Amino acid sequence: MRRFLLLLVFVIIADYSFSQNADQTIPREHLLMDFGWRFAFGHPYDTRQDFNNGTGYFSYFAKTGYGDGAAAPGFDDRAWRKLNLPHDWAVEQGFSPKASLSHGFKAIGRNFPEASVGWYRKTFKIPASDTGRHISIAFDGVFRNSIVWVNGHYLGTEPSGYNGFEYDISEYLNYGGDNVIAVRVDATMEEGWFYEGAGIYRHVWLNKTDPLHVATNGTFITTKLENKTASINVSATIENGGRETQSFKVLQTIVDADGKIVANDAIKNITLKPFTTQDVKDVLSIDGAKLWSIEMPYLHKLITTIEENGKIVDRYETKFGIRTIRFDANEGFFLNGKHVEIKGTNNHQDHAGVGTAMPDALQDFRISTLKSLGSNAYRCSHNPPTPELLEACDRLGMLVIDENRLMGVSTVELNDLKRLIIRDRNHPCVISWSIGNEEWNIENNITGARIATTMQAYARSIDSIRYITAAFSGGVGSGLSNVMEVLGYNYIAHKNTDEHHKQYPNQLSWGTEEGSTVTTRGVYTDDNNKHQLAAYDRKQNNDFLSLEDGWKYYAKRPYLAGMYIWTGFDYRGEPTPYGWPSVESYFGMVDACGFLKDDAWYLKAWWADKPVVHLLPHWNWKGKEGQDIKVWVHSNCDEVELFLNKKSQGKKAMEQNGHLEWLVKYQLGTLEAIGYKNGHKIAMDVVKTTNEPVSIDLSANKSSIYADNEDLAMVTVQVNDKNGLHVPTADNDVVFSIKGPGRIIGVGNGDNTSLEPDRFLERISVAHITGLKEKIIDGTNNGAEFVADYDDSNWDKAFKDERDEQFGQKAKSIIYRGSFDLPADKDSAAITFFFNSLGKTQSVYVNGKEVGHNLSANQKGDEFKLDLSLLHVGKNTIAIEAVPLTKKHSWDNINMDPGLVQLVYSAAPWKRKLFNGLAQVIVQSTGEPGEITLTAMSSGVKKGELKINTKEGNKRAAVLSSE
Ligand code: GAL
Repeated sequence: MRRFLLLLVFVIIADYSFSQNADQTIPREHLLMDFGWRFAFGHPYDTRQDFNNGTGYFSYFAKTGYGDGAAAPGFDDRAWRKLNLPHDWAVEQGFSPKASLSHGFKAIGRNFPEASVGWYRKTFKIPASDTGRHISIAFDGVFRNSIVWVNGHYLGTEPSGYNGFEYDISEYLNYGGDNVIAVRVDATMEEGWFYEGAGIYRHVWLNKTDPLHVATNGTFITTKLENKTASINVSATIENGGRETQSFKVLQTIVDADGKIVANDAIKNITLKPFTTQDVKDVLSIDGAKLWSIEMPYLHKLITTIEENGKIVDRYETKFGIRTIRFDANEGFFLNGKHVEIKGTNNHQDHAGVGTAMPDALQDFRISTLKSLGSNAYRCSHNPPTPELLEACDRLGMLVIDENRLMGVSTVELNDLKRLIIRDRNHPCVISWSIGNEEWNIENNITGARIATTMQAYARSIDSIRYITAAFSGGVGSGLSNVMEVLGYNYIAHKNTDEHHKQYPNQLSWGTEEGSTVTTRGVYTDDNNKHQLAAYDRKQNNDFLSLEDGWKYYAKRPYLAGMYIWTGFDYRGEPTPYGWPSVESYFGMVDACGFLKDDAWYLKAWWADKPVVHLLPHWNWKGKEGQDIKVWVHSNCDEVELFLNKKSQGKKAMEQNGHLEWLVKYQLGTLEAIGYKNGHKIAMDVVKTTNEPVSIDLSANKSSIYADNEDLAMVTVQVNDKNGLHVPTADNDVVFSIKGPGRIIGVGNGDNTSLEPDRFLERISVAHITGLKEKIIDGTNNGAEFVADYDDSNWDKAFKDERDEQFGQKAKSIIYRGSFDLPADKDSAAITFFFNSLGKTQSVYVNGKEVGHNLSANQKGDEFKLDLSLLHVGKNTIAIEAVPLTKKHSWDNINMDPGLVQLVYSAAPWKRKLFNGLAQVIVQSTGEPGEITLTAMSSGVKKGELKINTKEGNKRAAVLSSE
């Protein structure tokens, strides 16, 4: 009832907005299409497991609308899993040594065909009042090689796992009724050498506009500053998708962050023929404009309105920032005329627990985490990011290198670059396009020089404002090294950048990868058996510099604009220097959950601006009494004094960009470091030997989240001793449960070797009905044919005869019999028979028991929850007594599929081991306001409980689902 009421409210709201559309008061809708999808695994080469797609005598390449198998609108997907996007099925798989190291040994890819193709389907409503509108479906990114159909119509294939793409579906829709979108995703092949996920892992949108509208990503805003006046160059691509020539005007309005109009203008008398576009250009100016900067990321909004005969037909909003950027070959980078040293990190796009399926709030969490280290720049290595990452960087003040996936100048590759630039060129955070990374085959030769020159010229033709870089691994004087606008050095251990700068004094440069340090969070002795690396900043090997050596090098050389550490966050895959069973990289300043490693404190000391004293290691070294322990301090104070149990271990002067070291004979107790600036104590850190854990402590980055089905709280799980001290060595197994309007969407602990599940999900399997036979009866049968063990060996195979009218006259009543097999563990599943009508009317029997009586033909199918006591392990019988379906025309298709039996095994409880004292639980709101309670239990310690409030607001307009 509650569901019905909710639905009713939704329908009323939706109808209201649709009726508004009819009045043209909402000229454009941008609707989130993430909710209510169905998912099932297909197969790269087994046709039956791939739902017979592409098998039709006439399939979708032969005739339009002939999407077959799971691409057909009428396909029965009732037994498929229900889920919301974003979704990464790779993270849901187990680990296997046979899987790819690059993809973190998650069992997908070439050796796992049964988990490498995924199908998604969604049924949605389009109101009749939308007739005549321009409607398109936009994907922010699907990994990878996706094919999309709407109502059986093939829309296209997108090989890229990173680029956004959009299809116009206006003509294919069923206005005033249900519509079906089907997407086949094939993640068999990798693009990167790092974890990439699998599936529709970014948002999907439904865009509705007037045929006359601003093109998608159709605005381009550039800003210039003279004295205190900003001149804003605006270009808006207007598209006439209608059938007639249109005359209209374009209004450009700029509003500040408070919504106050700060500039506006109108361009009148524009005429556009059908199926043409025009770039409408304008210049507006703002006196005393607030600038976008790292410290004050102030955003303006351009509102582009198309007005036709006094009626607003489109309203398109573009956020932008007013700022200037400049690189100098001797002095580095300048933002708004002020020198900014680039303190960057490289990052891939996955997080603990959820893989690449990152809700937007997670982007904010990650960017905020990096900012807290004093980092001001982010390189999207090595692919176009999701738009929400750039929005977070715009909002939070983080500069970005926006990177293309593959270097090359084929039409496909240039078009990929174009799509990236057009999509992202209004983000103030983006200061540079990157056209490639370590393209070893070409970076040192003339082919590379040519490709880089062409790509740069091409990029500039789309955006002449931003700088262009490529990350490059070596060889000065050839290839990319002297043609790149901003040369990106990847690792300078064997490079002489001073020499290079002398030879090419006008070459702009920075370090696109540096500080390749490999550490395990919370570990202070190397253990190759456990694949653990002590967290004292250390270089990977002699071909690399440590974090500290890397930063010292860059900090001293103003001609280098700064550097990007490899990496900010640990990521799945590339577990250098190890292989299986290490599944995650060790390069991060923070682990895959975002828990700070000790190196992060080096950055806080030298990149951020607060006084820092950070001590490592922890002080739990039972059994090592009297032995030397290496103690480090990261600090930006002038001097630091170390005390063990109040006894000074000496005061040391801090070297700029360095760290301090002591060897301390272990005795349990308290280690304390005190930092002095100008002789005054200004900061300190203490580590204490702890006792055994006695209680679980849960804390979250937010105590209140939006009840919008998307927002998140990032929960830290730790155990404390009887004195309330965090136990840094604890490895308790912790089990989680959740109540209220929230769900857990992932768990992690930053252990690079953990093979525990990231997600705990229901498992679905299906039992197909096989061996369907039939027998015509005279309608006066005594029911014997329905019993489970009836001998039907001499019956005909079902549907042997054409279902024409003659057959209908001959067979007034027919019995079908078939069977399905159930596994030994069937009693732990919930079992549902999804039945498809085989008759005009019918009664359905399972193992001789009637489950459906005299049912009329039902296009949507009937659903029977089957009682476990009725079912057997092994063979089960199904019998259907029906008045047979017959064809009106010889070309009609009648249903011959009785449906299937679905088994749903409930999910195991969410759990995670603590790794060096910490684990993370990601809690998402389910959409209703209220209170979430997260409980954590572990044997022998007091349970932990955390309340998270969910509040109204922030809900985005979403597509109306049919389910
Ligand atoms: C670089 C590469 C990065 C990563 C790193 C690991 O050469 O550009 O993507 O693989 O090495 O050390």
